[in-house]
Amino acid sequence: MEQHLQLPNSHVFVGSLSETFSDWFNRQHYSQVFVIVDEHTESFCLPIFLEQIGKIPAPVIAKVPAGEAHKNTATCETIWQWMLNAKLDRNALVVNLGGGVIGDMGGFCAATWKRGVDFIQVPTTLLAMTDAAIGGKLGVDFHGIKNIIGVFKEPVAVFADPVFLKTLPERTLKSGFAEVIKHAVIGDPELWTLMPPKWPSPNYSTDQWIQLLHASIAVKISIVTDDPLEKGRRMLLNFGHTFGHALESCFLETSDPLTHGEAVAIGMICESMLSNKRDEITARLSSYFPHRPIPPSAFPAIWKLMLQDKKNSSGNVRMALPDELPFSMKTVDISPETMVRSLSFYNGLW
Ligand SMILES: NC(=O)c1ccc[n+]([C@@H]2O[C@H](COP(=O)([O-])OP(=O)(O)OC[C@H]3O[C@@H](n4cnc5c(N)ncnc54)[C@H](O)[C@@H]3O)[C@@H](O)[C@H]2O)c1
Ligand SMILES: [Zn+2]
Repeated sequence: MEQHLQLPNSHVFVGSLSETFSDWFNRQHYSQVFVIVDEHTESFCLPIFLEQIGKIPAPVIAKVPAGEAHKNTATCETIWQWMLNAKLDRNALVVNLGGGVIGDMGGFCAATWKRGVDFIQVPTTLLAMTDAAIGGKLGVDFHGIKNIIGVFKEPVAVFADPVFLKTLPERTLKSGFAEVIKHAVIGDPELWTLMPPKWPSPNYSTDQWIQLLHASIAVKISIVTDDPLEKGRRMLLNFGHTFGHALESCFLETSDPLTHGEAVAIGMICESMLSNKRDEITARLSSYFPHRPIPPSAFPAIWKLMLQDKKNSSGNVRMALPDELPFSMKTVDISPETMVRSLSFYNGLW
């Protein structure tokens, strides 16, 4: 089974690369193929990628260190240096084979190389398949500020093949589920029922993965197509992230930082506390993710971090919440007192 989704300027293929890639590639006319990997996707994903895609002109492989710590302009320089060495021309194709870090950074390098060469996303984490690879937001961190340098540019295609999920550490896989749960809440009641109500790790068949990925990606596509430059409806995608980003930063300096998905999961619980969906959402999220108490001494710092968000006005924090109607959203402004109530609600759950 293979599924195909359409964005205004790009295609998203969900299914085995062996069924999707060659057909697509043979219809293009690329002069060179330049594959960006990190040290983990080089071992776990590159052999599968090369085996599945069939015959292509000898690709250049550019390997960079793994992890968010390397999503920066220094690593971009390394990638651009590889491009220079490979004499990469305007008709080349860049392949980003990795999680959201490789997708965001490799896409940014491709979008800026010679004012832009085509690139495809071949996401290898659940988060990247369902979220980061879709929507054309590219970039890197700078002076510790996430994604502060970047551009909007669509890949020419995205190939989401669930085969790559098999080698993901459980914590990374689960973290990706936070975004799938988010997509279900903001846009697809059926997706909600496709997911197992409780962790442990779902023992999905390939077809079940394809169905789940397809539904989750479809929600993101529908929202970004409506609002490609983040002026309105795209705010829905921020559900869980107003609290989530602040919590992610706040736990960064601890001995066990939260993953992005874990932080967003807590964020969705805190934000849905203010909605009528509280019980349903809280039950699902607390079965997937461990409880991480948030020290009340950190509440003022969390408020400060939340205030930095660009959508706020007049000292309050603006966010999108699940609304009265099933699977619809509303925008609210919250005060510091409401923030304290939400975090205390989360702390009191266990
Ligand atoms: N552009 C967007 O719209 C958007 C949306 C959400 C997140 N993001 C970005 O995505 C990034 C996070 O993405 P992520 O969670 O995929 O992190 P990641 O890219 O760092 O991948 C997580 C870890 O898993 C490893 N890995 C990747 N695929 C693997 C596989 N198949 N098997 C084994 N190991 C594998 C990676 O090497 C890394 O160590 C952040 O930088 C975030 O800003 C971007
Ligand atoms: Zn997210």
